[in-house]
Amino acid sequence: MQATNLETLVTIQYNFDQPTNRAQTRSSKWEKYPPGTIPLWVADMDFEVSPTIRQALADRVAHGIFGYTKPDLEWAKAVTDYYQTTHNWTIKPEWIVWVPGVVTSMNLACRAWSQDHNKVLTPEVIYPHFHSAPTNNNKQCLFMPMTYAQGRLRVDINSLPAKPHQDAKLMLFCNPQNPGGCVYTAEELQAIDAYCQQHELILVSDEIHADLILDADKKHIPYGSISEYALNNSMVLGAASKTYNLAGLACSWAVIANDELRSSFQKAMHGIVPEINPLGYIGTVTALQTERDWQQQLLQYLRGNRDYLAQEFDAIEGMNMLPLEATFLAWIDVSELGLENPPAFFEAAGVGMSPGAGFNDANFMRLNFGCQRAVLQEAIARIKQALANR
Ligand SMILES: Cc1ncc(COP(=O)(O)O)c(C=O)c1O
Repeated sequence: MQATNLETLVTIQYNFDQPTNRAQTRSSKWEKYPPGTIPLWVADMDFEVSPTIRQALADRVAHGIFGYTKPDLEWAKAVTDYYQTTHNWTIKPEWIVWVPGVVTSMNLACRAWSQDHNKVLTPEVIYPHFHSAPTNNNKQCLFMPMTYAQGRLRVDINSLPAKPHQDAKLMLFCNPQNPGGCVYTAEELQAIDAYCQQHELILVSDEIHADLILDADKKHIPYGSISEYALNNSMVLGAASKTYNLAGLACSWAVIANDELRSSFQKAMHGIVPEINPLGYIGTVTALQTERDWQQQLLQYLRGNRDYLAQEFDAIEGMNMLPLEATFLAWIDVSELGLENPPAFFEAAGVGMSPGAGFNDANFMRLNFGCQRAVLQEAIARIKQALANR
């Protein structure tokens, strides 16, 4: 299939249109709703992993022994090389801490870097774990106001409290932002950094969607590359799980340049956080080392899905999809439909999306378009039919 977006001139060789069947795999995504409902919620994709990742995993499985696994320094180097070549950020292998999940790291940061009952600054409209991580760990959320200006849902830097609470030591931050898919610009990151410097805050930057930038003119900037202060007072969280569809293999990394912060973070892991499983490492490292071409083709396919949805929602009165710079998660304002219970309405129509209330904005629904285009076409047909019938 030929790419439709001439800006990038990528030819799609992998067949992302190929139907896949996740029945009988205990998929969280596919088991949530009754059979027949199209599940477009939790952020994993319905595409098979790249042939090379699949082969690397098969080779490891063929060995037949899956004991505790010690990370190889070469694997940390795969991460540092990835940052260098993909995001032009020079980091050291010893700064990498392997963690089974990004959410785990957020929770650990709340334990390690703030005291009980401290406040944690966190975006007001965000992936739910940004609100549960502080409260899970005996902290209180201090919501950072958001703006939808220019259709980009992001922290409203100009409305941050002039003086955050004296007990606020930590800020949680998401770039690209989920939901909404905003990619923060250098200026926006510098303003956040200036605020953190002024108030001596440590920032946790969840960058799990960094390699899912859809707009050719947008660029992901790792937070730690913004300034010396940012480097020494932050943790950047990354994973191959979203981009390469490996979420079930439970592998991620944290980049912590500051020795003291790294050591207190690792101390908080002791006895609680299990080691990464061998397949998690193999999948992640193979993705980073060899799968750039597959990723570019995936992006091309996802752009097509995003553009298809944008066009369809443009024509559906009362459903307004935000322009999306990154991620495979469309953020759709359904408030003008005047529905009493939007999630129930769409579910009854046979389309299972994530309720916006889970992200703290009940006016919206989040639609995961990491799936075959034909599936989206069926979902759109169902939505149109249900709206016509009401
Ligand atoms: C912004 C963000 N952070 C973290 C996660 C989950 O990461 P993990 O499975 O590594 O805990 C997701 C999954 O959807 C996400 O969207």
